[in-house]
Amino acid sequence: MSAEPTPQPMIAPSILSADFARLADEAAGVADADWLHVDVMDAHFVPNLTIGLPVVQALRKATAIPLDCHLMIEDPDRWAIGYAEAGAYNVTVHVEAAKDPVALAKNLRAAGAKAGLSVKPNTPLEPYVDVLKHYDTLLVMSVEPGFGGQGFIAHVLDKVRTARRLVDTGHLTLLVEIDGGINPDTIEAAAEAGVDCFVAGSAVFGADDPAGAVSRLRDQAGRSRHRVSSGGGR
Ligand code: DX5
Ligand code: ZN
Repeated sequence: MSAEPTPQPMIAPSILSADFARLADEAAGVADADWLHVDVMDAHFVPNLTIGLPVVQALRKATAIPLDCHLMIEDPDRWAIGYAEAGAYNVTVHVEAAKDPVALAKNLRAAGAKAGLSVKPNTPLEPYVDVLKHYDTLLVMSVEPGFGGQGFIAHVLDKVRTARRLVDTGHLTLLVEIDGGINPDTIEAAAEAGVDCFVAGSAVFGADDPAGAVSRLRDQAGRSRHRVSSGGGR
């Protein structure tokens, strides 16, 4: 069995760069986005504090865009399930924080969500290949988690290539997602490496026209992938 990348690249705007006082309007402004990326930070796993479950519950009612919750928190084994129960489409936990990531994935799926596993830029993929068999998404961090607007760390593309190969050869069945520093200057390299879903915060909500930024990023990623598939390997 071989799996091709999802037919069209997916764009997940991160509301970390949106106006927190106008979240429903900001979501409506990117209604064409594939997922809405929600960065949950607890000031322990990362040195920043953002939003939590009540905001996700409110957002779920305010938008039809599937919510992609990225939990940068300690003890996700205890807290992640609440986000699935709140109706998040995909709930991603960090492998560096999870105590029993296989049980966690099973619980998330049982609660009706997709299960995502994230790796920080310097966390290797190889020790987690068997764990990833239980997951629907792999979120490769291309910045140190904690803040938007940071520079893209290019060496993580090696992990994207590895994950893409594992998916294409049927060893894993998951979506490859990247998060951090994605913008018009970096998205092509990420697309060529095999990313399916691109999180973009400042490049979308920092733009004059967020909806236009989403469609331009999607087109740009699509063209790069096409170049790869018609021109040889990655
Ligand atoms: C960082 C967050 C990202 C962040 C990305 O810890 O996980 O989702 O919002 O922001 P940009 O796209 O500005 O790097
Ligand atoms: Zn994120």
